[in-house]
Amino acid sequence: MTRFVVIASGKGGVGKTTTTLNLASALQNFGREAIVLDANITTPNICLHLGTPSLPVTLQDALRGKKHIKDAVYLHPSGLKIIPSSISLEENPDELLENLKHVVPELKDSGEVVLIDAAAGLGSEAVHALRVAHDAIIVSSPDIPSVTDALKTIKRAEKEGTKVLGVVVTKVRNDNLELSITNIETILEKPVIGIIPYDQSIRKSLHLKNPVLYTHPESRASVAYKKLAANLIGQRYVESFIEREGLFNYVLKKLGFRR
Ligand SMILES: Nc1ncnc2c1ncn2[C@@H]1O[C@H](COP(=O)(O)OP(=O)(O)OP(=O)(O)O)[C@@H](O)[C@H]1O
Ligand SMILES: [Mg+2]
Repeated sequence: MTRFVVIASGKGGVGKTTTTLNLASALQNFGREAIVLDANITTPNICLHLGTPSLPVTLQDALRGKKHIKDAVYLHPSGLKIIPSSISLEENPDELLENLKHVVPELKDSGEVVLIDAAAGLGSEAVHALRVAHDAIIVSSPDIPSVTDALKTIKRAEKEGTKVLGVVVTKVRNDNLELSITNIETILEKPVIGIIPYDQSIRKSLHLKNPVLYTHPESRASVAYKKLAANLIGQRYVESFIEREGLFNYVLKKLGFRR
């Protein structure tokens, strides 16, 4: 049976949509079937990250009962399967969100996992997404405001009966201005299951409207997302030489100029 896993945060802009897309992409690389669902119906992100803002059938059509949710599944050129939300202005989002609990379970035999990209904050949009999921992955950057909001989201997820699998820390620069991973685990009382470095490749991939795993598969961020996916499926990811040392060093080594 398909697991529904919500990617939530609390604070906005920390990297939920980036994590949803790239975790799905990494899971697919490992042969696992994943679908990405944009549950952010007032300010949808998925189709904007992927350059597909005008798909004919969207989550809203399913929430209105006009279409079956499976009619809103698209195969993106990157290989990702997505269910987009419409970018049109939503007059009555709360009425639509009430139907999420009826519509999402209709995906129950749709592969291994549906990753649900949630809205920021703890308003009704985010809470409905937490409520329909079996599990939650909490995204936070390594600073006090994000971690504080992440704590509130963890508490809310647990109140809704959603299991928190762990925390993905994003935009990590490894300097002494950010919270350490140990401190984050202590504050949140949850394991950190992924550490994603601050990486320009992610900004480039947004510009190219594709997951970073597709545009820059050997970048530090891609490797980190592969490790996160491997962690979730109970495997250990071993980096290739190119991923660890870069193509330039690889070529020098092959030519015998470097050991
Ligand atoms: N590891 C990273 N390194 C550098 N930039 C990043 C990283 N992760 C995300 N970003 C950038 O941060 C911005 C916000 O990312 P994203 O849209 O994924 O966040 P979000 O949590 O989904 O935001 P929102 O709360 O608005 O939905 C984007 O410009 C994205 O490219
Ligand atoms: Mg987003």
